[in-house]
Amino acid sequence: MIITNIKGIVGCWQADCERVAGAEMAQIPIVENGYLIVEEGVVHDFGSMDNFPFEREDFDATGRYLLPAFCDSHTHLIYAAPRASEWVDRIKGLSYEDIARRGGGILNSVDALRAKSEEELYADALCRVAEIRQTGTGAVEIKSGYGLDLENELKMLRVAARLRESTDLTIRTTLLAAHAVPREYQGNREGYVDYIIRDIIPSVAAQGIADYVDVFCDEGFFTVADTERILDKALQYGIRGKIHSNELAAIGGVELACTKGCLSADHLERMNQAAFEAFARSPQTMPTALPAASFFLGIPYTPIRGMIDRGLAVALASDFNPGSAPSGNMQFVGTLACTQASMLPTEALTASTLNSAAAMGLSHSHGAIRRGAPAALLITKIMPCLDYLYYNFGSNNIAHTLL
Ligand code: NIG
Ligand code: FE
Repeated sequence: MIITNIKGIVGCWQADCERVAGAEMAQIPIVENGYLIVEEGVVHDFGSMDNFPFEREDFDATGRYLLPAFCDSHTHLIYAAPRASEWVDRIKGLSYEDIARRGGGILNSVDALRAKSEEELYADALCRVAEIRQTGTGAVEIKSGYGLDLENELKMLRVAARLRESTDLTIRTTLLAAHAVPREYQGNREGYVDYIIRDIIPSVAAQGIADYVDVFCDEGFFTVADTERILDKALQYGIRGKIHSNELAAIGGVELACTKGCLSADHLERMNQAAFEAFARSPQTMPTALPAASFFLGIPYTPIRGMIDRGLAVALASDFNPGSAPSGNMQFVGTLACTQASMLPTEALTASTLNSAAAMGLSHSHGAIRRGAPAALLITKIMPCLDYLYYNFGSNNIAHTLL
């Protein structure tokens, strides 16, 4: 396919550039008035229209921008049922932690998921994948974490594997057995961690069904010591970690993630000096902000501006899940990062493409416009300027997701 007269080809990072940090995040490389050629699903060539080598064209993109498809490096999009009533309880004054303490929250989703068949879960998740595709997502990480026993965690991971087979999105799967302590282990958190280490991780590893292992390392969930045991076990099988941390309190999750070479540490609403320093020492661990969770829970936003100003890289992801962020719209995530955390639109684009690809181990192939890379692209609607993508919030400014 030959696409011509593109107003701007955005995100043409060099082939060896797998993440971008600090001030460079705003300097997203753009070719103005360009053409791009896709051959057999691969970006064959692109450049300025001044050097356009052909007479023919398949798609006239006058007035439109072409970008790498969004990479959403953190979702829980396989779930059995929405939790709108908890949302209403929060409007009335309960906190996310209050709801979790009285047995709702994640455990509510666990009850619902255990009761549903693999087929039903697949059908619902397929609709969500189709929805995020329409708003520009081309690569997505999907976590388990609503099964909390071997049978149901495997059920979720099989649904994710089936989505990978049956859709054209690139999908990475993550085992999140340590998302909460299930009801049958209430009062025996360590027993549940033992079970994860003894039974769940070895079986999941044997089936090769998870790319990464995640832990909700936070106050009221799993401790740093629990998290270390789980990450170490996963590493024995060559599976890298990604963690949820510093959402409810700064208990040392970021520092551990950096020490253990995790691919990303996500949430980060409660950063402290030790967490900043750990990230500065460990560029292999991508700091990942989830501003839709802050928006929806009414908790502080991740201090993205301070992170970038200190020279760190930042990725953005949706956290699409039924409790804290029931949306996978990466355009809205970008708007929130800009309006609520002082990110520049160009920084938000870098964070939602190249850096979020890095946060799921895909930045060699995704998140940038590069010759020879898979053509995971999006074409915007006709827009007056690039910033309009996030400025015009609530609309879908993506015309086509090409995968
Ligand atoms: O990333 N913080 C922990 N886990 C999810 C929420 C999951 C849920 O509430 O169902 C998150 O926000
Ligand atoms: Fe999450």
